[in-house]
Amino acid sequence: MGVISILIFLSASLCLPLPPSSCSSRMRPVQKSLCALTVLTASLAFLYLHVWSPKPYTTVDLRRGSARMPEQLLNSHLLVPEKKYAHIAFRIKEEILELLPKNSCKCEVEPSINLPFQKQLFGHVYSIEFANAFKPSELPKINSKREQEYRSYRQRSQSPADQVLIVRANSPLEYPAQGVEVRPLQTILIPGLSLQAAERTLYRVNLTATMGTFDVAAEVDSVKVEGEGGMHLAMLASQLDNLNRQMQFVTYTNTLFHPNTADTVQFSTDEHHATFIIRIRHAPTPRLYNPGSSSGENSGEYNISALVTIATKTFLRYDKLRALINSIRKFYPTVTIIIADDSQDTEHVQGPHIEQYFMPFGKGWFAGRNLAISQVTTKYVLWADDDFIFTPRTKVEKLVDVLEKTSLDLVGGAVREITGYTTTYRQQISVQPGDDDGDCLRTRQGYHHVIEGFPDCVVTDGVVNFFLARTEKMLQVGFDPRLSRVAHLEFFIDGLGILHVGSCSDVVVDHASKIKLPWLKTESEKQYAKFRYPNSSDDSINVKQRLFYFKNRFKCMTGN
Ligand SMILES: *[C@@H]1O[C@H](CO)[C@@H](O)[C@H](O)[C@H]1NC(C)=O
Ligand SMILES: *[C@@H]1O[C@H](CO)[C@@H](O)[C@H](O)[C@H]1NC(C)=O
Ligand SMILES: *[C@@H]1O[C@H](CO)[C@@H](O)[C@H](O)[C@H]1NC(C)=O
Repeated sequence: MGVISILIFLSASLCLPLPPSSCSSRMRPVQKSLCALTVLTASLAFLYLHVWSPKPYTTVDLRRGSARMPEQLLNSHLLVPEKKYAHIAFRIKEEILELLPKNSCKCEVEPSINLPFQKQLFGHVYSIEFANAFKPSELPKINSKREQEYRSYRQRSQSPADQVLIVRANSPLEYPAQGVEVRPLQTILIPGLSLQAAERTLYRVNLTATMGTFDVAAEVDSVKVEGEGGMHLAMLASQLDNLNRQMQFVTYTNTLFHPNTADTVQFSTDEHHATFIIRIRHAPTPRLYNPGSSSGENSGEYNISALVTIATKTFLRYDKLRALINSIRKFYPTVTIIIADDSQDTEHVQGPHIEQYFMPFGKGWFAGRNLAISQVTTKYVLWADDDFIFTPRTKVEKLVDVLEKTSLDLVGGAVREITGYTTTYRQQISVQPGDDDGDCLRTRQGYHHVIEGFPDCVVTDGVVNFFLARTEKMLQVGFDPRLSRVAHLEFFIDGLGILHVGSCSDVVVDHASKIKLPWLKTESEKQYAKFRYPNSSDDSINVKQRLFYFKNRFKCMTGN
């Protein structure tokens, strides 16, 4: 644009009467009209370029509603077929149909045969409806707000790459079914395009995109290419081989910026159409941690101080916290310990490699966990409650080894009560799709698979309060600070689909006794119990259920 302005300025100044040497007041009529013509031409050129030149900044519509909702995958068409298949008999396999997603889920406690010790072995199965956590009068308003937030969440989180694409029968078009990816505003060669058509006089193909443009990196002899630099590219040739060679040079340039979406490309020849997806996204930026110097990198020994930070949250229990720290120091003298503390009368817990962070009084369980993990700078973070005690069986190395050698993001250990009872608290968590009322949450004790090479470890969805995790993954899920008191499984529910969770029974931490006669309790223990184990008039259970209802859009849950 700058060049054009200078042009206009020059031609205009040419015609100004000021400089006596050039276009002066003594201008002859011919010269005058020449000047006028120059100005006119320059202005027209400016207008032309202004309208037709590619603009460096265009506008983009990112408002809600610009994305479409996904189609239902399974609908009634399966059982009530179109006319063409109506006469064909079939027999439904109820047991398989049962497994398919329904239009709505229910949290029913399955009636089961009563076995001896069933409750002890499998737990007592219960079911909760979360709508009951609200007054009937508040529900309509809550529901409409939840629906609104849910819609906009779906629109934000969906990409055209999620849509179902059906390949039509018998197409002579060859194209990449998946895996083509371009970074925003960058260019790639589209791999795998070709035409395998029967002999004819003229072969032609078209490509159409919506978020970028096509071009060719080379021009092949006797191929006519139309629409280079545009969203619609047509190629024709009388020789099929030439056309196919040309297609190897087709490029795609993303022009509509989006950090993570997809362009749906139409690829067609005379009577056949195909659709494929080009994924547009920034490659996820890695967040790597330097594992530090290890004493024996090859012998498989790990430098725990360089790799692991122990994080804990304390509240009114300094005696227990000190016992934890002393036990850790017996085995890991230089590992960093981070303490989040929301006690009222705070005490400084000092020592080398200890960081204590004070929070407002009673800020809560998950808020404290969040603060603690936010300060971790090592590759892994080990979560421990403040009333745990490390023993020779608390081999953090074993948990590090599992995370170093597998794709797991988080691995739990076992907690041993003073009675000798040891728990890994393995939970399978799943969510069944529901209707407008919400989805159904299901938790069951148990696990999915044993891990090859680690006979004491299994894959599951939720584990006990003692676990080692990749710091970056834990930060990604986070602990919801709205859960201030009774909360644990909520972290794993938020982490579904993000965390790959394991549990190992051979790494054991001791739990300082919970069983204590009431009259032997200290004043701070009594106060702690009041906050940690709320009585029935307390509403923290209610807060949790309301969060499940609104935030996670669950209508109910069953568990055991
Ligand atoms: C290809 O696009 C041209 C216009 O650019 C159109 O005339 C032609 O019908 C299209 N051919 C196919 C096979 O879609
Ligand atoms: C282990 O890591 C710590 C912290 O990075 C470092 O100070 C220490 O020297 C390392 N120990 C060994 C044996 O390499
Ligand atoms: C229940 O807890 C609340 C808040 O912590 C407290 O004010 C109330 O006195 C408690 N009630 C009983 C019966 O302990």
